[in-house]
Amino acid sequence: MAEKATIKLDKDLKLAEVDDRIFGGFLEHLGRAIYTGIYEPEHPEADGNGFRRDVIELVDQLNIPVIRYPGGNFVSGYNWEDGVGPTEDRPNRLELAWKSVETNKFGINEFMEWTEKINSKPMMAVNLGTRGMDAARNLLEYCNHPGGTYYSDLRREHGYPEPHKIKLWCLGNEMDGPWQIGHKTAEEYGKLANETAKLMKAVDPSIELVVCGSSGRGMPTFPEWEQTVLEHTYENIDYISLHQYFDNEADNLEEYLAQTEGINDFIETVVTVCDSVKEEKGSNKEIHLSFDEWNVWYHSKESDEEIEPWQVAPPLLEDVYTFEDALVVGLMLITLLKHADRVKIACLAQLVNVIAPVMTETLGGAWKQTIYHPFFHASKFGNGVVLQTRISSPEYNTESFGDVPCLEAVAVENGSDGELTIFAVNRSRDYSLELDCKIDGYGDLDLIEHLVLEHDNIKAKNTAENPDNVSPHSAGDTKVSDNRVISSISSLSWNVIRLKI
Ligand code: AHR
Repeated sequence: MAEKATIKLDKDLKLAEVDDRIFGGFLEHLGRAIYTGIYEPEHPEADGNGFRRDVIELVDQLNIPVIRYPGGNFVSGYNWEDGVGPTEDRPNRLELAWKSVETNKFGINEFMEWTEKINSKPMMAVNLGTRGMDAARNLLEYCNHPGGTYYSDLRREHGYPEPHKIKLWCLGNEMDGPWQIGHKTAEEYGKLANETAKLMKAVDPSIELVVCGSSGRGMPTFPEWEQTVLEHTYENIDYISLHQYFDNEADNLEEYLAQTEGINDFIETVVTVCDSVKEEKGSNKEIHLSFDEWNVWYHSKESDEEIEPWQVAPPLLEDVYTFEDALVVGLMLITLLKHADRVKIACLAQLVNVIAPVMTETLGGAWKQTIYHPFFHASKFGNGVVLQTRISSPEYNTESFGDVPCLEAVAVENGSDGELTIFAVNRSRDYSLELDCKIDGYGDLDLIEHLVLEHDNIKAKNTAENPDNVSPHSAGDTKVSDNRVISSISSLSWNVIRLKI
């Protein structure tokens, strides 16, 4: 069965340039993300630094421009000094956020070396839970000051004569969450974040700062938290964070696929708060959004409760993703692109083993989870300028979000490559969509390829034994004549239609 849908695009109706940092990632000292994920000196694939080459290869292909580190909840109890200097002198610590043992064999300098291997840049978080302004400014001096001071010379002693020049910094993590070590009220956090921001910018005025927004749109303090925090920090910070995780605990596919609709409201509310504080302050400055944690997270929650505390690198948050999860990740990528005017940074949480697109076995293989594929496509073909994408689509009714369009889509003009890419998801399990897309202003178009991710089992997974069970093909059904693109968007599918302009 097929239904009709249309998209109208016009070269002159542009929304915004994509900041490539919306295809960011996140690595936390949590479970097996670092140890046996990216760093495993005993592994046959390990390089001279102990980094797994097989993992570097898979992450490198994801084309990730920025990686948030070292947490997450972890950062709120972290002493950064434990992770620098000779590894044999580094202490084992009780890691209280995830009830593990942290060996500190991997720290900031190792992270910097690893990001270079995948051509990425760091987004460093400071501890505003157990610590504060003093540790933050010392860390910044250690990382960014050229030399001739205590902390910059310490870095040089540790074998790094050149400063790391870390540009992007997060002022703590999820400080609105009662689970956070050192949880604060908006007043308390706003004051501390502002004073820390002033001090950090005094050490290095070239840095950019992200202040904590809410840890989810369902938080009871949202959006008053944003209002208060911004009133304290507005002139000294550059971005405010948003976090959101999706789940299908109710096992209701239609409701699950609709969850990204709530993100439009979430983003628009945060933008409204930013702009109202701007007005209140009579400021010229615009605050942008950093959606620095998002993903699907629920498969591992029950089994995590059975994991014994105080282990080194326990297998925590190891969600094994299904095909339907890949659709949600695709829908979220489209949603982020549609807000490219204000969302300048976004980080898929996380990267390896922990709610991640890449999975590894300790001393074994590494493979791509289902969610790897839409992310790979978006970061590869989603750079350029987002066009206003006017969609007409059949809808279905949901309890949580009312009427939801079956077709979700966005178009990006990849100017430098002379290409136009349409990303589209069909949320319907009942019918395919006959998509008629009219594209004005580019003249005649040609089809490069129509990539599709689909599967007849919505619960299909990729595993070590069957790593390509859910993987894309390029046999999508699209015909182009002049400026019309006619595609069949099969039921429950992620599509990338690449056109030559
Ligand atoms: O990504 C997992 C955890 O989710 C992070 O540590 C925390 O910031 C969030 O609650």
